[in-house]
Amino acid sequence: MHNKKIKIAVFPIAGMGTRFLPITKTISKEMLNILDRPLLDYAVEEAKAAGIETFIFVTNKENTKPLDYFSKNTKLESFLKKKKKIDLLKQIKKLNIKKKNLKIIFQDKPSGLADAILRTEKYVKKEDFCVILPDDLILGANCTQELINVYNKKKSTVIGVMEVDKKDVSSYGIIESSVFKKNIYKIKNMIEKPKVKDAPSNLAIVGRYILLNDIYKFIKKTKIGSGGELQITDAIFLSSKLNEVWGYKFSGKRYDCGNKIGFLKAQIATAFKDKEIKKEIKKFIKNLGG
Ligand code: G1P
Repeated sequence: MHNKKIKIAVFPIAGMGTRFLPITKTISKEMLNILDRPLLDYAVEEAKAAGIETFIFVTNKENTKPLDYFSKNTKLESFLKKKKKIDLLKQIKKLNIKKKNLKIIFQDKPSGLADAILRTEKYVKKEDFCVILPDDLILGANCTQELINVYNKKKSTVIGVMEVDKKDVSSYGIIESSVFKKNIYKIKNMIEKPKVKDAPSNLAIVGRYILLNDIYKFIKKTKIGSGGELQITDAIFLSSKLNEVWGYKFSGKRYDCGNKIGFLKAQIATAFKDKEIKKEIKKFIKNLGG
């Protein structure tokens, strides 16, 4: 049985963030800020806007900051109230997620995306659900909502995909597919981080998935894959023998905030939404010269 509505989102955030050391010694990658908000906030906001009601963070024991960030902070709220900073107060209150709708699950050692997802089974129960990787920041359109729209029609697995340069395929899960309709692909094969010569296409998986509940069954059958980890790409491929798997070429722009260049581009793109900042920064970069 499928859901009437996708209501649960899983956020795997247990990674070590080695590409951002040393800052990630004390702050997890998902809590790094794009302007004044952590990456995780953008991901949660996307989920909320797409109708998600329950938020599950899979993290490690050291990384409990996300819980604080989305929980009520009475001291801060009464301070802002006293200082009559009403707009700020509203903004801060909007972040609060009710205790019953916010779950933290611990993944002791990073053993892959599929392992992180497997740990959510007893909370997700029988529902189909979505997975959002916060370091894939997608601006300009709500990718989760777009995938849910496809799920609502197909009642099957849907994955966000985008075209990448052929030389970069080894950083992604890559799909082999046939075009079904504009921007919708029927997936025949999926390979996690293939060598350039083995990649069946340049259509890459990004960190947005709508998964059927039986994915748990397939994760349990999945063997250790690329990087010595349990890969969700492999589990979804296994499931494709039974369920259709759809790729959706989403319409927003994706920033790979797991690497420094992507992260910096996301900062600039976000800052440029403010006319004044845009003008100032453009002038600043021009004067930096080269
Ligand atoms: C994960 C997935 C990969 C996907 C990528 C998108 O890899 O395993 O299939 O293409 O996210 O960001 P990671 O970058 O976490 O190694």
